[in-house]
Amino acid sequence: MPCTVIVGGFFGDEGKGKIVAYLSVKDRPTVVARAGVGTNAGHSFNLDGASVKLRQVPSGFPYRNARLLIGPGVLVDPVVFFDEVEKTKVNGRIGVDKQCAIIEQQHIERDKSDMHLSSKVGTTGSGTGPCNSDRALRLTKLAKDLPELKEYIADVPKEVNDALDKNQSVIVEGTQGTFLSLFHGTYPYCTSKDVCASQACADVGIGPTRVDDVLVIFKSFVTRVGAGELAGELGEEEIERRGWVEYGTVTGRLRRAAPFNFDLARRAVMLNGATQVAITKLDVIFPECKDAKSEKDLPKEAAAFIKKVEGSIKVPVALVGTGPDINSIIDFREKRSHPKDQQKTTKS
Ligand code: GTP
Ligand code: IMP
Ligand code: MG
Repeated sequence: MPCTVIVGGFFGDEGKGKIVAYLSVKDRPTVVARAGVGTNAGHSFNLDGASVKLRQVPSGFPYRNARLLIGPGVLVDPVVFFDEVEKTKVNGRIGVDKQCAIIEQQHIERDKSDMHLSSKVGTTGSGTGPCNSDRALRLTKLAKDLPELKEYIADVPKEVNDALDKNQSVIVEGTQGTFLSLFHGTYPYCTSKDVCASQACADVGIGPTRVDDVLVIFKSFVTRVGAGELAGELGEEEIERRGWVEYGTVTGRLRRAAPFNFDLARRAVMLNGATQVAITKLDVIFPECKDAKSEKDLPKEAAAFIKKVEGSIKVPVALVGTGPDINSIIDFREKRSHPKDQQKTTKS
């Protein structure tokens, strides 16, 4: 599909990075543009046996011909950016929008020392909240003000829209999850801006009419780091017993966990205008699925779970994650025609 926006359906860490990496290698998009808040996000996945963790570089980097862009709505921490550019060797094909606001050391210090942020909200301490607040006050530096970023400076909205004008495909990579949204999440236990699909479009400078697909990602169970309500939350012992233990990519904190929440999933579908969904970590709740690549390799209970999700949210499941490797995935897309194609068939 020419333009796919990918966002999280719960509280972040649903596995957006892995899904974006898989789709980039499989569908070969011309552009992968990172949207979302900034370095508070940690996208991780396994590639050729190695674990990759990304807080700034778009997760589409494994597809070597993809142009990688960071939209003007995203906060850039030059220290993290340069470290990742070096590790991923994406020099020459990554661009940072001239209007990205810059996270400085003082933002990180404020994030960590402010009791409201660090203790009450339980932020990631990456400086994104104070930086977004300074941005609203029009105090932040922008990427174009930093000589060291000069060779990376790009007009991201222009590049993305030009690609779409040429019918080239674009993936917009969101961060966090719907219920961490400043507008739609569990305020004040949320992040410092909206993180739903329409905000992801604004982050990279595309209008809503340019989007073909909104892919919302759900994990097979719900996790959350930091404070705030989590319906059906399990105790630490039970999380361990079920094998659902996870640690935050950015903070290393133990992620709180609860079973899949159908009410939240339906609301996330509504708030994001989902056309497709992905379910990740099916292998964690059904270990027999580990690394399955085909629907026929799924045990009955796992297939029934996918059907139950589809029946509840009324949106097709396009992808199912069965392991941390980018190839551990079941791709249902080939089997199913796109809802827009179905409309065309009905009309003709
Ligand atoms: P945020 O933007 O920080 O919300 O991150 P994210 O959505 O990219 O997720 P994150 O990488 O923080 O967490 C997902 C974790 O699950 C990573 O360690 C992935 O390698 C792993 N993962 C993703 N998909 C699967 C899957 O289908 N099965 C298993 N076992 N692990 C997965
Ligand atoms: P902040 O975004 O660092 O200000 O943190 C605000 C809240 O959002 C805290 O509860 C964080 O744990 C949570 N949060 C922010 N980014 C992520 C993420 O990428 N994954 C999961 N939780 C996140
Ligand atoms: Mg994460």
